[in-house]
Amino acid sequence: MRQDPRFPNLHILDHPLIQHKLSHMRDRDTSTRTFRELLREITLLMGYEITRNLPLTTMRVETPLQPIDAPVIAGKKLVVVPVLRAGIGMSDGLLELIPSARVGHIGVYRDPETHRPVEYLVRLPDTSERTFILCDPMLATGNSAVHAVDVLKKRQVSDEQIVFVALVAAPEGVKVFQDAHPGVKVYVASLDSHLNDHAYIVPGLGDAGDRLFGTK
Ligand code: URA
Repeated sequence: MRQDPRFPNLHILDHPLIQHKLSHMRDRDTSTRTFRELLREITLLMGYEITRNLPLTTMRVETPLQPIDAPVIAGKKLVVVPVLRAGIGMSDGLLELIPSARVGHIGVYRDPETHRPVEYLVRLPDTSERTFILCDPMLATGNSAVHAVDVLKKRQVSDEQIVFVALVAAPEGVKVFQDAHPGVKVYVASLDSHLNDHAYIVPGLGDAGDRLFGTK
């Protein structure tokens, strides 16, 4: 795990397996099927790091040899929240790791003129005392990510209860996110160079939703 001195809340998960798989995802010739598989696999690996500090409690277990107080994850079930639509590709991997998690959905699309997020769907479980893992592969302008966190905060979810997971981020987007929500941790597989004039991440991997679902 690496940090960037400009962004204290950003954690770059630069594990060799993650980097290797991401490089194949970036390749324009990678098929939809492989792109989808790689995204699920990377999210599984990222999920392992993201959940590293989950609080534990104990439960009484009788092994064949003796009773013990065995560690189990404390508190209410986690909530995985994909930001639609590309976030779905990441929630699949996270749910494989945490099968009992609840799933919320936040639907936002980017207005092609203003690049501002337009919300069209919010479905969440009860929000009290839960940890939320928001996921969206591309943290580009940061506007959708900021909006998704706003949605949770309006429901009294605190900074400490939220983590945001993306595959690739642009420095511009991380700055916007950090200014809006300095207390929310962000995990990414790569911090890329910059945004282009169409607010695409460079070098990036193109349109994550289109590549994931095979649309244009
Ligand atoms: N959304 C994407 O899918 N790709 C980008 O590069 C930026 C936003």
